Amino acid sequence: MTPVQLSSTDRLLAVVDHALRALTSAPQATRPKPAPGRPGALLDDVERRRAGALMRVNHVGEVCAQALYSAQALATADPALRRQFERAAGEETDHLAWTAERLAELGARQSLLNPLWYAGAFGIGLLAARAGDATSLGFLIETERQVERHLEGHLDRLPAGDQESRAIVTQMKNDEASHAMAAEQAGGTRLPPPFRWAMRAAAKVMTTTAHYV
Ligand SMILES: [Fe+2]
Ligand SMILES: [Fe+2]
Repeated sequence: MTPVQLSSTDRLLAVVDHALRALTSAPQATRPKPAPGRPGALLDDVERRRAGALMRVNHVGEVCAQALYSAQALATADPALRRQFERAAGEETDHLAWTAERLAELGARQSLLNPLWYAGAFGIGLLAARAGDATSLGFLIETERQVERHLEGHLDRLPAGDQESRAIVTQMKNDEASHAMAAEQAGGTRLPPPFRWAMRAAAKVMTTTAHYV
């Protein structure tokens, strides 16, 4: 089937629609929320608050993923690459929906700064995309790898009995690894160390803030 050709205005409207969906409506997952092999333990208040804070950070990460993929899909001139970004963004929507649902189950709220995170990540995504497809993909590889390591760390920090959050985080970690691999196969180049350090520092600010706000 021939892909539909969208004008720049159509693409811009799609970007606005995407942002509004990520920030204001309940995202629709295409896959069922990962369920644990065995039901989790009943969490006490301290555990519930800790799990809520960690899942809020993960939800913010997914808000940022929505913005990054949306910016990069908008900016690339390569239709095949745009389709790859849109495909990955679909899986990120699953992550967004699952983390939002788990936050609600834990009685925790989403970050109040989500519009700010979205705008910041969108701007960074556009900057990366302007440097060309290879750099843009390199930026994605580094982002996905950092997220994968971050999620690995959360598996150590989540309450042992919170099997529900663990099942979600484990599936997200596997998906992020496959997003990094897909970006590598599409020709992404490894970013120089100073960029990787700057990205780690920016991620640290975001994760520390989102833990509380
Ligand atoms: Fe994700
Ligand atoms: Fe990802």
